[in-house]
Amino acid sequence: MFPFEFHNPTQVIFGRGTTPRIGKATAPFGRRVLLLSGQGSARRSGLLDKVTDSLKAAGVEWVDLGGVRPNPTLVFAREAIGRFRREGLDAVVAVGGGSVLDTAKAVAAGARYAGDVWDFFTGEAEVGDAAPVTTVLTLAATGSEMNSGGVLTNEATQEKLHLSGPALFPRVSILDPENTFTVPRDQTVFGVVDAVIHLLEGYFNGSDPDLPLQDRLVEGLVQTLLEAADAALRDPKHYAARARLMWGATLALNGLTQAGTGNTGFPMHMLEHPLSALYDLPHGAGLAIVGPAWMRHASRQAPEKYAQFAGRVFGLHSGSVSERAEAGIRAFETWCQERGAPTRLPAAGIAVEDIPRIVPHIRRVAEVWGMARYTAPVIADILKLAA
Ligand code: NZQ
Ligand code: ZN
Repeated sequence: MFPFEFHNPTQVIFGRGTTPRIGKATAPFGRRVLLLSGQGSARRSGLLDKVTDSLKAAGVEWVDLGGVRPNPTLVFAREAIGRFRREGLDAVVAVGGGSVLDTAKAVAAGARYAGDVWDFFTGEAEVGDAAPVTTVLTLAATGSEMNSGGVLTNEATQEKLHLSGPALFPRVSILDPENTFTVPRDQTVFGVVDAVIHLLEGYFNGSDPDLPLQDRLVEGLVQTLLEAADAALRDPKHYAARARLMWGATLALNGLTQAGTGNTGFPMHMLEHPLSALYDLPHGAGLAIVGPAWMRHASRQAPEKYAQFAGRVFGLHSGSVSERAEAGIRAFETWCQERGAPTRLPAAGIAVEDIPRIVPHIRRVAEVWGMARYTAPVIADILKLAA
């Protein structure tokens, strides 16, 4: 096991009926906050009213800013930073999925920085100080509720990049599974795919071949997420299933399962972010396409871990190592496909002829992330496996 430091300061308040605690949880961080939400789901469900009632009861004033869109934009974040500064606010309360939470983090960092917030995404500046963020999560997917990262799209340059820094861990996150009862079927599936791929990025990209503890954590989480997804798809108000999805997705990217693996990067995310940026694809849908393609590419060199995955997660034990590796990848791909996620580029409306146009965008992410071995020909080969 590789040496590591694990420090996750986010206070998680989990369970049914916890939403009204957001006011008291936020009050220590400021008396005037920016209340950020998405394109209306939280307003329609009555969640936003619960949040404002709780803020009011705790003596916290808010400036209401809705409208964060999926694949959130830099333009919106810049406007929100301007608003935060003009109003002299103290903190951000994010009510939504990963897009709202990520925008909140960009606002928190940008509000305390004299330059342009995009500098944090391109690596021109490091996040130092940031305003406090608290969250009420509404979608099990990204892990943003308990990690220090955030992703935005710069529409002008068609880049989707991420910022991170210890100051960006949410101070408190309210995880009430009932707030995910209204998540539509497709977003439930995309969220699970995202969480599973977060786990597999660590699992398949570790440098140490002997990691039974991390392996079993990941395998158990993947199995649980896939089972819970089916229960939630059958009955969207299945509390136990929604609870497993919510906590499972949080654990998938809060640093726990990747610790000690000697992780060598997030190549499936490197391949996906440009697809979201260019085609406005939901992140989980893009991962269902590039995930299996990347796994096929990587398993050619070293199929053993993929065969282990096939056996332990899907109970596939017959055939040679390479055959079992392929069977496991196919099982995951089929799982996605049968639940309505696209698993090939054309299924998402992306023409195979577009591959040469997509490659330089992925190269750019590879460059920013320092993943030099993903040259243009390698990237094109992987994308062809998704054709
Ligand atoms: O905008 P509203 O009206 O809220 O609707 C949203 C949106 O249309 C809807 N939704 C969310 N909660 C709902 C709901 N609808 C009904 N009931 C609810 N309870 O779902 C749609 C998608 O929301 P979004 O926030 O975009 O989804 P998700 O949580 O999957 O976030 C995706 C974004 O996070 C980034 C992705 O790249 C993408 O931009 N990621 C962030 C990460 C991080 N911060 O650590 C890591 C991930 O790998 C990922 O890159
Ligand atoms: Zn992801």
